[in-house]
Amino acid sequence: MSRKSVKVAVTGAAGQIGYSLLFRLASGEVFGPDTKVSLHLLEITPALPALEGVVMELDDCAFPLLENVVVTDNAETAFDGINWALFVGSKPRGAGMERGDLIRENGPIFVGQGRALSKAASDARVLVVGNPANTNCLIAMNNSDLPEERFGALTRLDQNRAYAQLAQKAGVPVSAVSNVTIWGNHSATQYPDAENAKINGKPAMEVITDHDWLRGEFISTVQKRGAAVIAARGKSSAASAANAALDHVMSFESKTPDGHWFSAAVPSDGSYGIEKGLIFSFPVVSDGAGGYSIVQGLQLSEFAKEKVVATEQELKDEKSVVTDLLR
Ligand code: NAD
Ligand code: LMR
Repeated sequence: MSRKSVKVAVTGAAGQIGYSLLFRLASGEVFGPDTKVSLHLLEITPALPALEGVVMELDDCAFPLLENVVVTDNAETAFDGINWALFVGSKPRGAGMERGDLIRENGPIFVGQGRALSKAASDARVLVVGNPANTNCLIAMNNSDLPEERFGALTRLDQNRAYAQLAQKAGVPVSAVSNVTIWGNHSATQYPDAENAKINGKPAMEVITDHDWLRGEFISTVQKRGAAVIAARGKSSAASAANAALDHVMSFESKTPDGHWFSAAVPSDGSYGIEKGLIFSFPVVSDGAGGYSIVQGLQLSEFAKEKVVATEQELKDEKSVVTDLLR
């Protein structure tokens, strides 16, 4: 989609992901060299001084395309007339926690922000990054009057992780890998699907003959990668998360090349038997003009179907603990 200017809201802009996200948005890398960018940065009041420091650094980059920066602790001000909302602001998990453990703490943030979106933005597309991302997205969508298809949650980081694992195992560059799907929840139940993936255009299952690895270690490595990063860094992923968020935005802004798809958690329309309305990661193609569709007809083995049902069940369980936050 080509635009003269774009307004992007980033919540939690003073946090670690924000610090990796804002400079790349302002540089023109995401929306192209002909599109001016306005950043609408939302933070909680105590974090505003730190955010002012980040804005000083944005100024000091003298980005030619950066038209305007709004800094606020008011969601309606932040979302005024925006084209994209990147919902990052929320607490990260610590070691030994699952992302779902954050739901009662982070979920309520998305009630107010969903309502504020309805009032302030009629043309926004929303990406929820804050965990647990799928169910937070469900909460935001339920509290907003924007069309459901405008909402999505981030599973692109999982997709990128799966690409890297497959490429390393096959001894090929990441660019040789395609058609990997992340099904379901951004959690340890997600199903990274190698059965439909390709390497150099051939089925990945033919190129990688170690099927025990594909059905075992590959899946668990991707499922648990976030926890492994926390164990190693003492903090959750930030640069790779920001990178994936920008990949997600760019994929929805452009037309997906024929024969390809990308993974994003979007409201289920019942495809593949998944309960309607759950925010479920599917293979998705974008038309580059604001629309997208879920790729139909991928074959799922009995092994895959069991995994898909398990991750759907987890999303149903998460939904059942936030019914008071849904309208
Ligand atoms: P961080 O703690 O460094 O930053 C979060 C920021 O959000 C803080 O500056 C905080 O002040 C702000 N914040 C908190 N409540 C807010 C609110 N109501 N409105 C606006 N801002 C608010 O955390 P981070 O490392 O940037 O991670 C942010 C979130 O992203 C976490 O929930 C983390 O688990 C999640 N995450 C998701 C993925 C994914 O792939 N979906 C990947 C990495 C991290
Ligand atoms: C990730 O996948 O790295 C993030 O969701 C952070 C986390 O808590 O694992």
